[in-house]
Amino acid sequence: MNVLIQGAGRGIGLGLARRAIAAGAERLILTARDPLASEGFSELGQNPTITWVSLDVTSPDSVAAAGQEIRGIIPRLDRAIFTAGMLRRDTIRPEKRIADIDPDALMTLHATNAFGPILMARELWPLMKGDHPLRYAAISARVGSISDNRLGGWYSYRASKAALNQLMRTLSIELGRTNPNATVLTLHPGTVDTDLSKPFQGNVPDGKLFAVDYSAGCLWDVVDQATPVQSGSLIAYDGSIIPY
Ligand SMILES: NC(=O)c1ccc[n+]([C@@H]2O[C@H](COP(=O)([O-])OP(=O)(O)OC[C@H]3O[C@@H](n4cnc5c(N)ncnc54)[C@H](OP(=O)(O)O)[C@@H]3O)[C@@H](O)[C@H]2O)c1
Repeated sequence: MNVLIQGAGRGIGLGLARRAIAAGAERLILTARDPLASEGFSELGQNPTITWVSLDVTSPDSVAAAGQEIRGIIPRLDRAIFTAGMLRRDTIRPEKRIADIDPDALMTLHATNAFGPILMARELWPLMKGDHPLRYAAISARVGSISDNRLGGWYSYRASKAALNQLMRTLSIELGRTNPNATVLTLHPGTVDTDLSKPFQGNVPDGKLFAVDYSAGCLWDVVDQATPVQSGSLIAYDGSIIPY
């Protein structure tokens, strides 16, 4: 099994890399923006089945170089899970009200949270076509569901995850025509104890803040057990479908 985990340097992506190793992945391609400096490389760097690839999903040059490198390593893609996501950085904060809207934040969050999986699908298309049971997934979030939005706020993050869901849904239709055994999914990991959620963990009910390895294990199983019938869906860590 040839597996790609984008964003394996830390957080849920690192948990997924551990899970892929436990599942016996024969070739494991792990990406981070700066692999050698990452926690994932320190922990897993010596494993002979692993190749680390540098990938910043917001850089067209980095996307093209990573695509070329991956096409040179594996002839076929069996599992890919994309995890890139950001909620805040420097002066960017989740918006509480309309006065907080900032064009740079809107664009940065869309480039980081929505575009990576579709840009990489263009690069990896030759490895995705055929009739093998490819699973191509990206971590989204329940707050990206438009029908589930009752609280408001977090404009950029919500919109970027809704855009990711739509891009992956669209991909599921085109890929289904060239690989009928492929399944394309977006995933909700629950609330997970990572750098991303740290500033917001105070509001999480008891028992609802998941450890990285718990969430990653659930997501891996959801992806593993998914079938083409579910392609184009947003699925939670417990296997339930979340309406868009
Ligand atoms: N934690 C939660 O409660 C929660 C809930 C719902 C959804 N999610 C989603 O889960 C995913 C993983 O988040 P996490 O909780 O594991 O957060 P995290 O620990 O902060 O990890 C963020 C990941 O995104 C990657 N990333 C950020 N900008 C990138 C870029 N420009 N190019 C490539 N990779 C980039 C990081 O890679 P580097 O190491 O290279 O920076 C890192 O692997 C995100 O999509 C997030 O929105 C998380």
